Amino acid sequence: MKKIQVNVADVYGTVSADAIKKLAGRADDAINKLNNGTGAGNDFLGWVNLPSSITPALLGDINATANALKETCEVVVAVGIGGSYLGAKAVIEALSDSFASLKPKTEWPRVVFAGQNIGEDYLAELKDYLSDKKFGIIVISKSGTTTEPAIAFRILKEMLEAKLGKAEAAKRIVAITDAKKGALRQLATEEGYKTFVIEDNVGGRFSVLTPVGLLPIAVAGYDIEQLINGAREMEEATSKAEDDNIAMKYAMTRNALYGAGKKIEILVNYNPKLHYFGEWWKQLYGESEGKDHKGIFPAAVDNSTDLHSMGQWIQDGERTIFETVISVESPERETIIPTDKANLDGLNYIAGKHVDQVNKMAELGTRIAHVDGGVPNIQITLPALKEVYLGQMIYFFEKACGISGYILDVNPFNQPGVEAYKRNMFALLAKPGYEKETEEIKKRIK
Ligand code: PA5
Repeated sequence: MKKIQVNVADVYGTVSADAIKKLAGRADDAINKLNNGTGAGNDFLGWVNLPSSITPALLGDINATANALKETCEVVVAVGIGGSYLGAKAVIEALSDSFASLKPKTEWPRVVFAGQNIGEDYLAELKDYLSDKKFGIIVISKSGTTTEPAIAFRILKEMLEAKLGKAEAAKRIVAITDAKKGALRQLATEEGYKTFVIEDNVGGRFSVLTPVGLLPIAVAGYDIEQLINGAREMEEATSKAEDDNIAMKYAMTRNALYGAGKKIEILVNYNPKLHYFGEWWKQLYGESEGKDHKGIFPAAVDNSTDLHSMGQWIQDGERTIFETVISVESPERETIIPTDKANLDGLNYIAGKHVDQVNKMAELGTRIAHVDGGVPNIQITLPALKEVYLGQMIYFFEKACGISGYILDVNPFNQPGVEAYKRNMFALLAKPGYEKETEEIKKRIK
């Protein structure tokens, strides 16, 4: 089986191989902390051995639940935010036909998302779209108390119950939440929904390989066994502190670059299907490392599209940036550039070539220009957009994130900063229990 590859040769103009190697001791230490649970946040390490420990029974239950939704639904709305949204969205987008939503219904239900924003128009338009469809809901919230998905679920649940009645609606709702705690668990128990558990020791942004990501991905018709197989291969390949551990290599390299003043990392793709993979990665690294007033700022661009918007800044702006490029070796489909007799656009010099050959030259040309312009480049090569390689890449980034956070000396598994906006929002909305905060915040906005 092919594996994803990591090449860091194009950073050596900024940091030497020796400077990167100097972090090997810290990376070894990080691997030991992850393996032995001796580092900060060690009650959130359930993801480390998740691929090898997921049982065939659980995968079977997820597939059976997806099949049951397939029997009754044309559309399934996955309701969740952050770690309860981005992983499924990233994998489904990476594997889907770019125009799937405009094409006739396929064998599997369409998966659409809600609860990832508080957009009134978004929800009104979603309700319009669902009004003449048979739909079901997967509601995902680890805490079971997050406001955005709770609002969306309340609206969609009311709509489904109005359509089908309470009892029938309950058969089309699946809840993924904590085993015991939270409002969603209580609701699911009272209403008799099918449920899956998010284990206590798996944080939201590390939960894509649990039912949180796997159920929506299975409902969309993709092979979750292959996704897990890929992750399992990567779990094995990155479990020991060895020279060829690519998660260590990436973690060490980005920390060496950070130490050399490169404070921003952009995850770059040359395949629009990877846009949401960039969004998932931003959450993973942003929430894990951005704390104690430290951490690389994670951003993402879709090339070549963004070469025409962000390209100028990257090539020529402040030299505080490096890039990690995900390069997909082979496209799934074939499109050849035709010959044109008149050749008014002057493109006959590339006639007969695959579109991807041109894309690869755009990628290579950009890499050379960026490296020349002082933007170090890490290259991650993905053999193809297939479940197995996406599984490898997900686990690779998760493992590298844990190592990188420990090298940086932060707790990579908490997110205390996320609470600040919630406290203010609840105070502004006069949520019961927030009376004192409401009073205080009102003084500030007069
Ligand atoms: O990574 C995290 O923990 C967060 O982004 C959560 O995933 C997000 O806030 C959603 O939380 P919950 O699943 O509890 O609704």
